[in-house]
Amino acid sequence: MRGAPGRTTAPDSGRRRGPDAGGRRGGTVWPFAARDRDPAAGGGGTGPGPGPMCHARSVAPLRLNRYVVAPPVVLAPMAGITNIAFRRLCREQGAGLFVCEMITSRALVERNPKTLRMVTFAEGERPRSLQLYGVDPDTVARAVRMVVEEDLADHIDMNFGCPVPKVTRKGGGAALPWRRRLFARIVAAAVRAAEGAVPVTIKMRKGIDDDHLTYVDAGLAAQEAGVAAVALHARTAAQRYSGRADWEAIATLKQALDIPVLGNGDIWEAADAVRMVRQTGCDGVVIGRGCLGRPWLFADLADAFATLDAGQQAAPGPGRPPEALPEYRPRMPTLGEVAAVMRRHAQLLSEWLGEREGCTDFRKHVAWYLKGFPVGSQLRRSLAMVSSLSELDDLLGKLDPTVPFPRAVVGEPRGRTSAPAPVHLPEGWLASRDDDEIPYDAELDDSGG
Ligand SMILES: Cc1cc2nc3c(=O)[nH]c(=O)nc-3n(C[C@H](O)[C@H](O)[C@H](O)COP(=O)(O)O)c2cc1C
Repeated sequence: MRGAPGRTTAPDSGRRRGPDAGGRRGGTVWPFAARDRDPAAGGGGTGPGPGPMCHARSVAPLRLNRYVVAPPVVLAPMAGITNIAFRRLCREQGAGLFVCEMITSRALVERNPKTLRMVTFAEGERPRSLQLYGVDPDTVARAVRMVVEEDLADHIDMNFGCPVPKVTRKGGGAALPWRRRLFARIVAAAVRAAEGAVPVTIKMRKGIDDDHLTYVDAGLAAQEAGVAAVALHARTAAQRYSGRADWEAIATLKQALDIPVLGNGDIWEAADAVRMVRQTGCDGVVIGRGCLGRPWLFADLADAFATLDAGQQAAPGPGRPPEALPEYRPRMPTLGEVAAVMRRHAQLLSEWLGEREGCTDFRKHVAWYLKGFPVGSQLRRSLAMVSSLSELDDLLGKLDPTVPFPRAVVGEPRGRTSAPAPVHLPEGWLASRDDDEIPYDAELDDSGG
């Protein structure tokens, strides 16, 4: 098995790191090589079809101050998922920036033990990327100072995209950018507190709903405040996870800003990522649900960006026509290979949380790993109730390792697909865009969410 060809993320040294420094395992099962891919599956991918084409002229590495992210691929922060174990699993596959679970600024400054445990990075994990949530500029500034002074992370992403009613109802999450002055104060406080020692980025949605879009204003304000990049999940809060992400909004934001713009939403296959870059001109892609139960997607992404890179270097002039680009074929591991990844995931979680808690946490991943495979309901149920690694070994041993990857799930959505819903907001919220009073009780009590 060969390693994925992606470059690793490193301080701007221009050097590639060795296999171990990248967290890549010299082990036996992955990254899955090209031979594991099924040509009949084609490029896969179901992202939005061609919109107004805005040809990316290059796939330049993403620069976050002194860090270079190459390929410009980001693992989206996902509460309950992107912990040290899952990030490591993804890093072993490819390269990029791997953001930790969101933590709240208040919980951090209060040194909540659960929060401090979430701020755990693997040796060699660079940059250590931490996502912060906060609604109060002072608390955010204190949290950022703590990160810098105690050297807790190398990059801070600020979350302004949470659509959860209990948060937006208080004016937090995706509701907050509507209050443009408060939003600008929070972002400026974070950037100031970071003192250039760590790059600050923001992640947001398009707005509250189609009648209350905020992303261009918020992007401009964040740029003005000095953030290093802006990521857009191209849905409104009202959409939650329904429908399709609006990649045209990513193109619009890219045209409005001078700083890097990262596109997010509905990348299920590497082909989708390439298409997003080509259609929107965005400087990088953020991948969430597509890698649930498929951490090897990062190997596909590394391949795809390397191929795109090589293709563009070979072509004279302003870029190759779309038809000239190669197809991207997803890795399609057998059930036995998937079982090996599952075992490793559970092992990494157990190393972090202890075996019992690690196996319990692993349960939520079982359905994603087995999606589309012909595995009986009794065995699935038992795997989803696993309590120890030896029990997991017994159960995984009952799977037929030769079963091929289910072609039908290639390019299919996975993970959350919640229906649209009206966004709960505080009384009078929409009528007062310039009010910068700090919303009461809109900090989450705990991290995650
Ligand atoms: C289980 C889950 C947890 C999430 N948690 C966070 C979070 O803590 N912070 C955040 O900014 N976005 C969070 N998101 C949103 C993702 O980062 C991402 O923006 C969204 O899933 C759209 O990207 P995708 O289509 O690639 O999944 C979460 C999404 C999921 C599915």
